[in-house]
This record gives sequence, C-alpha cells and structure tokens, in this order.
Amino acid sequence: MNTQKKILITGANGFIGSFLVEEALNRNYLVYAGIRKNCNTDYLIDNRITFLELDYSSTETLCKSIVHAPHFDHIIHNAGLTKAEKKEDYFTVNFRYTKNLIEALEKEKKTPEQFIYMSSLAAFGPADHTTAGVVKLTSSPAPITAYGKSKLASEQYITHLPNFPYLIIRPTAVYGPREKDLYTLFKLINSHIEPYIGLKNQALTFVYVKDLANAVFDAMATGKSRKAYFVTDGHVYDRGNLGAIIKTTLNKKTFRINIPLGLVRIVAFFNEVANTLSGKTSILNFEKVNELGSLNWQCDNQTLCDETGFVAHYNLENGLIETAAWYKKEKWL
Ligand SMILES: NC(=O)c1ccc[n+]([C@@H]2O[C@H](COP(=O)([O-])OP(=O)(O)OC[C@H]3O[C@@H](n4cnc5c(N)ncnc54)[C@H](OP(=O)(O)O)[C@@H]3O)[C@@H](O)[C@H]2O)c1
Repeated sequence: MNTQKKILITGANGFIGSFLVEEALNRNYLVYAGIRKNCNTDYLIDNRITFLELDYSSTETLCKSIVHAPHFDHIIHNAGLTKAEKKEDYFTVNFRYTKNLIEALEKEKKTPEQFIYMSSLAAFGPADHTTAGVVKLTSSPAPITAYGKSKLASEQYITHLPNFPYLIIRPTAVYGPREKDLYTLFKLINSHIEPYIGLKNQALTFVYVKDLANAVFDAMATGKSRKAYFVTDGHVYDRGNLGAIIKTTLNKKTFRINIPLGLVRIVAFFNEVANTLSGKTSILNFEKVNELGSLNWQCDNQTLCDETGFVAHYNLENGLIETAAWYKKEKWL
C-alpha cells in the first residue's frame, strides 16, 4: 500500500507554485498540480507530477474537476491574481474562486486534513499605521490595495467556517528564480540605471522563494490548523540595500535616478487609462504606487519560527546572488 500523502497545489505552474511543487516532491508527497487549461507548464517537468485541470468559475465546474480526483490529505491553494486589469478581477479570482473551491470540496466530501491558503502581507497592509511599527498577528488588517482587500476577504471567509482546517500563510515580497517583478529592477541595473521612487527611506522585508516553500511545509508538518503566519526572512532592509546588492552582484556601475512619487502617480494615471483602452495590465498602476509609496513593510515572523522551527536559509544578499545566477543562466540578463 502506498503511504505517500497526497497533496494538491493550485497555481502550481506559477512562480511560487512551481517551488512548492519541488518542495513537495523533495518531501516525498504524491503531487497533484492544479492548473488551468492551456497554461504554461515549463517549470513542471518532473514525471512524478500528476496534472489536474481546475475550472474555478463555479462550485459546479470545480465539483466536476475534482470528482474523479483522490481525497487529498493536504491542499495548498496558491493560485491567485497579483496583477489585474480591473479591481473586480482580484475579488473574482482571489476571493470567489477560493470560496468555490472550498464549497466544491465540501460538496464532494473531500475537505483535506489541512487547507493552506496562500494569502499575503498585503491583506494586512504596510506597518505604517501600526503603533508597534511592525505588522503582528494581533494587528488590525488595513489593506491599501484591491489585491490586499481580496486576500483579506478570503481569509475572513475561511476563518469563519466552523472547524475548517485552514493554515493561512502571509508572505511579504517573495523573490527568486523565475520571478518577473524584481527582474525589472535587475534589467534596469544591468542597463546602468538605478531607480528610486520617492525621497523617503523605506523599511522593506523579503523572503526567498525556497525559504517560503520550506515555511509552508514546516507549518504543515506541525499538524496544526486554524493558524496564520507571516513569512519574512526576519531582516529589515532599506531600498538602498536592494539596489546595492543587485549592482554588486551584476558588477555594474549605475546612474542613480530619484523619481518623485508625484511623478510616478501621474505615470500610473496615464497607464491606467491606457490599460482600460487596451485591456492590458501594466506593472505600474495606482495599486503598485500605493505599495511603492508605503514606508514600512515590517512584519513579525516570530510565531512562525517558534511554532514551526522555521529558519530562513537566505538573506537578501545570498538570495539575490542565486537569483541573478539563474537569470544569467536562463539568458534573462
Ligand atoms: N510573489 C509575491 O511576492 C507574493 C507575495 C505574497 C503572496 N503571494 C501569493 O502567492 C500566490 C502565487 O503568486 P506568484 O507570485 O507565484 O504569481 P504567479 O507566478 O502569477 O502565479 C499565479 C498562479 O495563479 C494562477 N492564476 C492566476 N489567475 C488565475 C485564474 N484566473 N484562475 C486560475 N488560476 C489563476 C496562475 O495560473 P496561470 O499560469 O494559468 O495564469 C499561476 O499558476 C498568489 O496567491 C499570490 O497572491 C505572492
């Protein structure tokens, strides 16, 4: 008899999802990758992976998607929309689809031992408003973007389900190989441009994608449920650290450019108009400006460390060095 635990990881083909799949395989799970029809599966090439196409559009379509699937011991619901044309899209994908999935699991009597929801620090917003200067588990959530609000809506739905065995993971900014947002900064610095937005310094937090994957599985391994954890590498960085490390890693001399926040807002305004007309999503929109303009993204991972034994193996320096090496190997740089 096969005693391997079965795990379904949604959004498995994305940046974080593909690392969750790798970690699940490392930990000897029987891995089911929850994906959408016709998606890119370039990072899911291990032949131990079973693919499961999920149609999240309604509870009924999801019931059909999972009816012949096994009863999963664990589900990591990691699929999520991080950039959207319309604010409503965040709610549809991040909240409505999560609700549809949980309802379908309940209908099919397939609720797992643990349902891990990949939320975000954005659900609580920056620490700007907190008296402690750090977002803690006891802080009141104050998301500043529609994305963060949609994640919070899911969290509130999940935590109000009686006896539902959830674990909520709230990572700060995640970076690493395959990631495309911080990659923009790598490309600029590679072209000798080191941009800074606004004049004020910021307290930034990060977690390397492999550490995040470990944190998720360490939290699952405790067997606990009905818990939430912030995930960060435990350090606080200023924006100069980020630019300086990338610059050193790429061995580039740069022109430092300070772009006033007001100007960025104007550009974001025109981008939003262009997006509405073209139906495309731009990396710079009002949502992003709100996040970029926030001064303090500190969050407290002490409970995660105490309860799961989580230790971050990467700080920003060795994480960015490994990331740059991957970008170069894959000829992204
Ligand atoms: N990256 C970060 O810094 C960060 C920080 C905190 C939390 N998170 C959360 O981590 C999760 C993964 O993010 P990521 O950075 O890995 O993003 P990503 O690379 O864009 O991956 C997102 C995944 O979600 C799936 N997805 C997106 N829209 C969907 C839809 N309408 N229906 C079904 N599936 C959909 C994507 O599938 P397709 O390939 O088919 O589009 C992809 O597999 C998200 O829930 C995100 O909110 C990310």
